[in-house]
Amino acid sequence: MAELGSDIRRAAEILQAGNLVAVPTETVYGLAGNALDPLAVTKIFQTKNRPSFDPLIVHVADISQVLTYAAEIPDELKKLADVFWPGPLTLLLPKRAIIPDLVTSGLETVAVRVPAHPVTSALLQALDFPLAAPSANPFGYISPTQASHVEDQLGSKIDYILDGGNCEVGLESTIVGLEHGQLIVYRLGGIPVSAIEQVVGPVLILPQSSSNPKSPGMLKSHYAPGTSVLLGDLDELVAAHEQLGVDYAVLSFSKDYPNLPPERKVILSPSGDFGEAARHLFSGMRFLDKAGVSVILAQELPEKNLGKAINDRLRRAAAK
Ligand code: TXA
Ligand code: MG
Repeated sequence: MAELGSDIRRAAEILQAGNLVAVPTETVYGLAGNALDPLAVTKIFQTKNRPSFDPLIVHVADISQVLTYAAEIPDELKKLADVFWPGPLTLLLPKRAIIPDLVTSGLETVAVRVPAHPVTSALLQALDFPLAAPSANPFGYISPTQASHVEDQLGSKIDYILDGGNCEVGLESTIVGLEHGQLIVYRLGGIPVSAIEQVVGPVLILPQSSSNPKSPGMLKSHYAPGTSVLLGDLDELVAAHEQLGVDYAVLSFSKDYPNLPPERKVILSPSGDFGEAARHLFSGMRFLDKAGVSVILAQELPEKNLGKAINDRLRRAAAK
């Protein structure tokens, strides 16, 4: 194995001692602890202020480790793993007893992912246990896509932040499972449903709301900034708020609003590129949350490609 950087070695030591480290992934930063150690997992729930009924994703170095923690990988899911791992895909698999019930919130399935970030891949390879890691934000707030986002909110509560730069995908992983032979997308995310369907054919997208007991973490209000968010046709929303005389900021997909000062607008992708928009979404929401306005007006994206997952995050941010 290549010589480990001193930052990765330090992270490994902290994790081996049963403590927590924020780690970079290609999707968002995770708050990681030893997934096999119930005390470390308890610290994760405490630090995030996360309810214990919301299960965690287990991160492993490569697909060869999966069967240590899951009883099997059904063929249809294996096809997806072969195409999209390492990457922003999480699979729900039958759990083995070695995974503490706390990790899965008592469910029979365990969520497993092979992340693609080189720093965290090297870390996982150096460890002899997998990492349980939810997004490294206080429960319900916007996920972090830079080390400074983690520092701002959880810096005083965690032992170490492993800085891996900006997250390249910027949206959490797509969560896929299989029930009675039917493939189901539980959470829209960094891999578009259209890409998944190219590999395995049509899938069912579970309604993305809190009433679904199979995915307890999918609360309606989530990814939310402190400032209220209104989602819809941005031109209409802007015209109405001009009329009302309310101070607002805009989160636009590609269009500029030249009359607004730079601190009150974020253009996710001037060229209308979905990947670029995803990459800028959470940092854009954080930026506008600091603008001190009464409301953030956000443009709904076309419902295709990553637009689906971006709209899902915007809807949850708007649901309060
Ligand atoms: O991209 C990601 O997935 C990031 C990075 C750090 O890997 N992690 C992440 O974790 O987004 P978190 O904890 O913020 O979201 C995990 C989601 C929750 O909605 C949870 O309910 C769901 O995964 N989940 C975990 N285990 C599950 C299970 N066994 N069945 C159904 N849903 C599960
Ligand atoms: Mg999260």
